[in-house]
Amino acid sequence: MLIRTQGSGFQHPHASDITPLAVYARRRDILRLAGAGATALALPAGGAHAAAAPGLAALAAARSTVPGAVTLEKPTAYQDATSYNNFYEFGTDKADPARRAQTLAPRPWTVEVDGLVRKPRRFDLDELLRLAPLEERIYRLRCVEGWSMVIPWVGYSLAELVRRVEPLGSAKYVEFTTLADKARMPGLSAGVLDWPYVEGLRLDEALHPLTLLGLGMYGQVLPNQNGAPVRLVVPWKYGFKSAKSIVRIRFVEHEPATAWAKAVPQEYGFYSNVNPLVDHPRWSQATERRIGEDGLFAKKRKTLPFNGYEAQVGQLYAGMDLKKYF
Ligand code: MTE
Repeated sequence: MLIRTQGSGFQHPHASDITPLAVYARRRDILRLAGAGATALALPAGGAHAAAAPGLAALAAARSTVPGAVTLEKPTAYQDATSYNNFYEFGTDKADPARRAQTLAPRPWTVEVDGLVRKPRRFDLDELLRLAPLEERIYRLRCVEGWSMVIPWVGYSLAELVRRVEPLGSAKYVEFTTLADKARMPGLSAGVLDWPYVEGLRLDEALHPLTLLGLGMYGQVLPNQNGAPVRLVVPWKYGFKSAKSIVRIRFVEHEPATAWAKAVPQEYGFYSNVNPLVDHPRWSQATERRIGEDGLFAKKRKTLPFNGYEAQVGQLYAGMDLKKYF
């Protein structure tokens, strides 16, 4: 993000003809017919998304019933969502993560959950996968660079994990630290950021049911380039809040120093709520391009306040000046 400037930085990916989403759409229609929005059917492992990526384990998930968790917009092609990525630990080019992230090694994996909690605990990946029923949620993700995607994630509300460690009354924020291992992440030597990549949320944001602990996408475990094996997905904030490959979740009293706010404080605030009225100092945030759909010469889409999730999350910011707390 640091190195992109208006106009010059946007690289449109090649739209893929190979789409698993015909399968995806068919399943969605079946679910609609079954009234699954209300009943949360469990989907068979590997069934609907079997075409997504050979070799990645399938994750069975029920369609989420959390209000706002399933947009009816068309999901981005799997090929686009997994080949146009920001994961600077593997390089700053959009194609780098897909090309280089096979060294990540997402198993075994543990996440340390500590800080101001009554029951600090280290979870291994299998514990995380079993912690709560897996849900499928279809979220828009809007990157600060002016593009967006629609992704069917698999996971559950971060609140499920939070309540198991019992935060103390003094815990006001949650800090997410991601893996920084030079042996597995070639981009670390470039020094683009002060590694590890750290993100943060206010405790009430972390507890909002839409805040997802992501363990998969398109019916499978996360591909490495999308933040395997566990990442955050906060749909109403710019994509950089959605930290990938998390190794530690810490409950703290004060606002955490986050990687992008530390690197360029005048450009990336702590809140980072999608706000078309607050321009990035180097480009407008009023519009966006949908990856794989809106060509370079197509009219851009209007960006919505809170990325379209205002009805669900707007009240978290009642009374706050969101131009000041950008
Ligand atoms: N997490 C880590 N650890 N490192 C990163 O560079 N990039 C962020 C976010 N999480 C990033 C990260 C940014 S800028 C975006 S837009 C999203 O991941 C992109 O997620 P995606 O590649 O799955 O679309």
